[in-house]
Amino acid sequence: MSVLVAYFTASGAGVTEKLAKRIASLTGGTLYQIKPETPYTKADLDWTTKASRSSVEMADKDCRPALADNDAPVADADVVYIGYPVWWYREPSIIDTFAAAYDFSGKKIVLFATSGSSDIGTEAGERIEAITGVKVSGAKRFAASVSDEQLKAWAQF
Ligand SMILES: Cc1cc2nc3c(=O)[nH]c(=O)nc-3n(C[C@H](O)[C@H](O)[C@H](O)COP(=O)(O)O)c2cc1C
Repeated sequence: MSVLVAYFTASGAGVTEKLAKRIASLTGGTLYQIKPETPYTKADLDWTTKASRSSVEMADKDCRPALADNDAPVADADVVYIGYPVWWYREPSIIDTFAAAYDFSGKKIVLFATSGSSDIGTEAGERIEAITGVKVSGAKRFAASVSDEQLKAWAQF
């Protein structure tokens, strides 16, 4: 079974990246970073400002920021983990762009997220199912303190 772990990270602290690396290592998966064509600056990520790029993008649920590349080896994968930092209680818009950019039919999609405290919720899974036409499994938010044993137990789909 071929596993792809695709993730987006933006804060500079790499919270989601660290988790994605652990999941790739535990599942024997290939790691792929989802990168926006235009990287997010610190000012872009300011959620306290309505006019910041992230606030503007997240206010429009149909927003699809451009990807830096279309090189994710999705075609080779049976299972695709998609990881992201929770933004405004859901998935960053770039995740929707990623979901729309590839053919996921016949594959399993598993969502994971990091956040300050919010849970992963159900909105992201519903939207990704609508975009890809594929059922989403196992959507879960993890704290950085999650153990390898907990991650392994979750990854048993
Ligand atoms: C624009 C923006 C919106 C965010 N919205 C939420 C939120 O709704 N709930 C939450 O708990 N954390 C929120 N966060 C915090 C991030 O989810 C958290 O810091 C994440 O672990 C960062 O991961 P990264 O280092 O991979 O970017 C937000 C962060 C940003 C930049």
